[in-house]
Amino acid sequence: MNKTLMILVCPLLLALSQPTLAMDKRDYHAPLYEAGCDSCHDQGLNRYPSDEACLQCHDPEALAKQTAREGEEAHQNPHDSLHYGKDAPCMDCHGEHTPKKALCQECHNFDYPKFNG
Ligand code: HEC
Ligand code: HEC
Ligand code: HEC
Ligand code: HEC
Repeated sequence: MNKTLMILVCPLLLALSQPTLAMDKRDYHAPLYEAGCDSCHDQGLNRYPSDEACLQCHDPEALAKQTAREGEEAHQNPHDSLHYGKDAPCMDCHGEHTPKKALCQECHNFDYPKFNG
């Protein structure tokens, strides 16, 4: 490749790789990125991962216990609710490269201090 072409092509390659570099990655999932994007992306990169991908490592029963509440707040558990039980799709509430809101908060004023949306 001649010098002029290099000068033209290099910034272009950098610009093309920018979206990947700028993509939001959660610190708590850092080891997954080392293992490769397909540790979540079981359906390819052009689609959202399936819920099964998350369930490889996260157990719905355990999650329901982790976010259980007492007394009047008992039914505010996002992982075990009156409306959706324990089956609500993870990505209705949790993002990975984009921030999300907890679905429940679209309609209720529940406080979720541990939420990573
Ligand atoms: C290969 C295993 C693995 C997969 C697959 C995985 N996670 Fe995780 N996730 C972890 C680990 C390990 C942590 C950090 C420890 C913890 O908080 O459970 C974590 C943390 C999280 C947290 C933050 C917990 C906190 O402390 O606030 C959320 C939310 C989460 N994962 C959601 C998801 C969703 C949604 C998916 C699917 C798109 C997913 N994870 C796929 C292993 C995994
Ligand atoms: C209806 C919305 C909703 C759905 C669906 C949902 N979550 Fe959550 N998740 C939340 C909220 C809200 C919190 C924070 C709860 C709190 O602050 O008490 C949370 C917390 C978590 C945590 C951290 C628990 C802790 O103790 O810190 C993990 C891990 C997690 N969710 C993973 C998942 C996975 C995996 C799925 C799919 C199987 C899923 N969530 C489905 C709303 C949801
Ligand atoms: C921890 C699980 C996880 C890992 C690891 C992960 N992703 Fe994702 N990805 C998601 C989730 C969840 C979504 C959908 C919601 C969002 O964007 O946050 C998504 C969405 C995407 C989308 C958008 C697809 C569409 O249909 O719009 C692209 C592109 C993407 N990811 C690329 C990547 C690349 C590239 C890597 C590796 C560098 C990667 N992802 C690693 C969980 C993950
Ligand atoms: C599309 C709107 C909508 C969403 C999203 C939604 N709810 Fe509800 N919810 C309602 C309506 C409507 C009622 C019945 C009227 C009322 O009592 O407020 C209700 C009632 C409730 C009640 C009983 C009444 C109360 O306020 O204590 C609880 C608890 C509840 N929802 C929890 C949840 C949880 C947890 C989530 C997320 C997993 C959720 N809701 C998501 C609309 C919604």
